Amino acid sequence: MSIDLGSLLARMTWRDKLDQLQIVWRPDPESQRALARRGVGCLFWPGSAAATNALQRIAVEESPHGIPLLVGLDVVHGQFTAFPTPLAQASSFDPAAAELDARTSAAEARSGGVNWTLSPMVDVSRDPRWGRVVEGFGEDPYLTATFGAAKVRGYQGASLADPTSLAACLKHYAGYGFAEGGRDYNTVDMSEQRLRNVVLEPFRRAVAEGAASVMASFNTLSGVPMHANHRLLTDVLKREWGFEGVVVGDAEGVAQLVPHGVAVDAGDAVRLAIGAGLDVEMGGSVLDADGEPAVGPAELDLARVDDAVLRVLRLKAALGLFAHPYVDEAAERSAPTAETRSAARTAAERSIVLLKNDEDVLPISADTRRILLTGPYGTSTDHLGAWVQHFAARAGSLDDAVREALPDATITVLPGAEFLATAPALPDALRGATEHDLVVVAVGEPSLLSGEAASRSDLTLPGDQERLIHMVADSGVPFVVLVLSGRPLDLSGWFHRAPAVLHAFHLGLEGPAALARALSGAVNPGGRLPMSFPRTVGQVPVHHDHESTGRPARTGGRIGFDPADVAIVGPNNTDDHFTSKYLDLPLGPLLPFGHGLSYTSFSLGSASLDAAEVPLADVLGGHRVVVTVEVRNVGDRTGDDVVLVQVRDHVASIAPAVERLRGFDRVTLAPGAAATLRFELGAEDLGFWTNDPAGRFVVEPGDFTITVTDGTTALDLRLRLM
Ligand code: NOJ
Repeated sequence: MSIDLGSLLARMTWRDKLDQLQIVWRPDPESQRALARRGVGCLFWPGSAAATNALQRIAVEESPHGIPLLVGLDVVHGQFTAFPTPLAQASSFDPAAAELDARTSAAEARSGGVNWTLSPMVDVSRDPRWGRVVEGFGEDPYLTATFGAAKVRGYQGASLADPTSLAACLKHYAGYGFAEGGRDYNTVDMSEQRLRNVVLEPFRRAVAEGAASVMASFNTLSGVPMHANHRLLTDVLKREWGFEGVVVGDAEGVAQLVPHGVAVDAGDAVRLAIGAGLDVEMGGSVLDADGEPAVGPAELDLARVDDAVLRVLRLKAALGLFAHPYVDEAAERSAPTAETRSAARTAAERSIVLLKNDEDVLPISADTRRILLTGPYGTSTDHLGAWVQHFAARAGSLDDAVREALPDATITVLPGAEFLATAPALPDALRGATEHDLVVVAVGEPSLLSGEAASRSDLTLPGDQERLIHMVADSGVPFVVLVLSGRPLDLSGWFHRAPAVLHAFHLGLEGPAALARALSGAVNPGGRLPMSFPRTVGQVPVHHDHESTGRPARTGGRIGFDPADVAIVGPNNTDDHFTSKYLDLPLGPLLPFGHGLSYTSFSLGSASLDAAEVPLADVLGGHRVVVTVEVRNVGDRTGDDVVLVQVRDHVASIAPAVERLRGFDRVTLAPGAAATLRFELGAEDLGFWTNDPAGRFVVEPGDFTITVTDGTTALDLRLRLM
């Protein structure tokens, strides 16, 4: 059935139109029914297929124009089957894991009547204080763009009208991950080139992938709140990128234009937001609970209102809602299946990062008989991570999973430290440690310390957990530390004492099984860090694709201090005095972006470019430079290596980053096996956005270094654009 949206629009009054421009959350069913009857455009999911169908029936049969509802929900990393958190997915360096998550959760959610997910979050962030880093894909724009595009493909499938697809929503547009001080909702102010090269890139790429909607962010950007930012919402997103979907506000973001200090009241805020290019408001500013509009028609640009309504109607048509407003209640899914669990398990296994493994303490050998498991994650079931709904299936605990993964070992569990509390009696927790062959200390942040409104000023393990690690180290028993968190943590206080460390951002439903299998060696960890781990919070932001500065600090230079001071400044920090560094820290993060080890080892060789000199005109005309490299498993176990391709532009009209990620691949190799990986670099990889507010992307001639690295070996190739 095709519907003539133009004549539908022509039949609507301006008030009916405003009703389409709202997504409203009402907890009680009677209010939901009243809104549907009135003709509201979008509601949050009422909780089941039957409840959704009942609301759709009211919208279709009783509302003034019979327009079906958009039904929204934050389906971020699973509906019933929680996949790893997005930041964990990014650690897999395997976009297929993210696509599988999105496909699986779309099928689960759409079966119950949801048709619009408020995901993925593609906010690049270099600040682990910001609790929402767990919802995104880390510090790198290319990695974020690649994962964001994969999520869009997964959610939206081949067609939005498919009963297993959801409309995706890119959020939070734009700059939200750069909140000053890492404090959620805080101010953002940045140059055009950073905005374009870092913040907007993932949005631009995911819009090109066909994302159906984009959500405005809570922050101001260079003084202009995003809900009133005409330049970003209209000039860039809609005009420059040709985005034809829906721009939705964040929760009460329109009303918040008043405390931002750019609108005098709700009416002013609505006028500003719609005028700026916002299509759908989240909250209750456009029309209040009684249907009273905040603004009259004289104050609104009615052509803009028509455009916004048409965008909403087009999305409803694309979702097939005019033809099929109801879902098949008999096909509703409300729990994980063996298949969805297995998909979540694979994704979790691929998202684990081996940070350290001195003397191959891991994997736990089969003859390790007596294992002591301690730390709050030993028994906690808090594995799902931030942004799961209350109805998601609950995870089990690590102790059960370890027993299953190591059936021949005797596992003793000692509580040993709470997540958050400090306890003077802690030493008692380790009585008997020396009677064991190995201690596994499972520590981390509970899920509630990350996500929205969960910024931290301290990045160390909370509570007594560091103390617990030191006590285990003091016991002299071999041990491994397993860390789970929703952000990069400051591990400096104890990392040097731990022989082996496994890390994962919260892994979802199958986290415990995946972790236990990584401990036992059934899984060989192959993930990599998608964000740098700072040495201390005072070093934040620290990230791999920084600019050089005019005074870069280098190690190995002349000692700028009295040698006695080296104890204070650290042995790495013995460069020229007047360079960019902290006096009291070694250079660089504790663990860089891309770091991750394996139970096997790899060699990287025969890296080459198909041409060392290429005419600039060819690149501008679409020619792509081909990079190849051979990777070989030189160890004795099957394992995964991740190869990154980084580009450095030596001289450019804007100070270039010391490296920019422009390609990556993860490959599984049996012992002795080799693979040749191939990457292509085109204009988009060699050029950059300038500071021109009109949006100017340039590729400049000159020398580039292309570095192919797997973290252990780095091979440099020279490219000249002539
Ligand atoms: C506020 C959050 O910022 C946003 O990400 C989310 O989609 C909405 N709340 C709705 O839950």
